[in-house]
Amino acid sequence: HHYVAIMAGGIGSRFWPMSRTNYPKQFLDILNTGKTLIQSTYDRFAAFIPKENIFVVTSNEYINIVKHQLPELPLQNILGEPSRKNTAPCIAYISFKLQQLDPQASLIVAPSDHLILDPVAFNKVCLEALSFVNKHNAFITLGIKPTYPNTGYGYIQYEQHAVTDNVYKVKTFTEKPELELAKTFLASGEFLWNAGIFVWQVKNIISAFEKYLPEMYDVFVAEKDKFNTTEEIAALNNIYPLCTNISIDHGIMEKAQNVYLIPSSFGWSDLGTWNSAYENLEKDYLGNAVAGDQVMVFDAHNNMVHAKNDRLVLLQGLEGYIVVDTKDVLLICKKDKEQEIKEYVAEVKRNK
Ligand code: GDD
Ligand code: MG
Repeated sequence: HHYVAIMAGGIGSRFWPMSRTNYPKQFLDILNTGKTLIQSTYDRFAAFIPKENIFVVTSNEYINIVKHQLPELPLQNILGEPSRKNTAPCIAYISFKLQQLDPQASLIVAPSDHLILDPVAFNKVCLEALSFVNKHNAFITLGIKPTYPNTGYGYIQYEQHAVTDNVYKVKTFTEKPELELAKTFLASGEFLWNAGIFVWQVKNIISAFEKYLPEMYDVFVAEKDKFNTTEEIAALNNIYPLCTNISIDHGIMEKAQNVYLIPSSFGWSDLGTWNSAYENLEKDYLGNAVAGDQVMVFDAHNNMVHAKNDRLVLLQGLEGYIVVDTKDVLLICKKDKEQEIKEYVAEVKRNK
């Protein structure tokens, strides 16, 4: 009764200009591995979950990309959402659908766009988590040792004594804190980053929707009998306009009581930004990370260069920059200013 839902509806705007709304980063091979991020995610799960039990929830506009990139996945396991409402509605959708197919279902929910260097360790943690949630009415989060006060993550504080082997009771869950708070969390040593991967029984997460997001719950309950019938798409078209745009982290995880944590070290990286790609790519002796065959670098240091267009890119003297060359956009941005890329993208869209 084990299922996986891979969430693949985000737009990855911080990886602009490679990641675009019509072709976001989960569908790209950011690290030059020969596989896109969603392909690696799928392979990690297919190693221990039958493919009939792996679902991808994505925006309707990406369904064809998913079909193309995951040809093994049964077509009925690719679920399209009519609009982008963040992760809470996405998780409600797969949960109500699964509850009908298999009331005993337990579910791993995972992002489609992370790097995990040690799939064997990952597999082990997932199985531990599944076994725990099958015995307890618990929500499992996977915690990663934080290295700096990143404000784009959830922070989880947990009790020091393990409940069983490797499972700890969560005290607090704070999604995307302000910088000052993130610094305090880091300094206390009591917090781990939320990896964004959750494990629970479907019936329990549905109860949590009823308790913490009751309006969304009601909207789904009203239409759920149409799931797994020819009316499923019509049902979604009724449901989505009525859903608030909210993440599972803000909507449920910050409030839920029975949350547990497994501290995990499987070489996790969010790969959220060009700097995280830089950290994970091999560097030349001058500290340049270069993705692309046609790049020449002279007397340049610590740059992140991504250029996979059939044209030569030559750098001289540049230091600490992100250089991304795509067919229609060339980005040259200081590495320590990359958080501003989101704003520039908004500006570009306004000027269109
Ligand atoms: N189907 C669907 N629909 N998927 C979505 C949607 C949506 O509307 N919005 C986002 N996703 C997908 C993204 O593609 C990604 O794979 C995953 O859901 C998580 O969404 P993000 O938007 O990337 O979340 P985040 O990175 O800001 O924060 C989450 O992940 C962090 C770790 O990377 C949170 O769980 C944080 O607490 C966590 O630390
Ligand atoms: Mg993310």
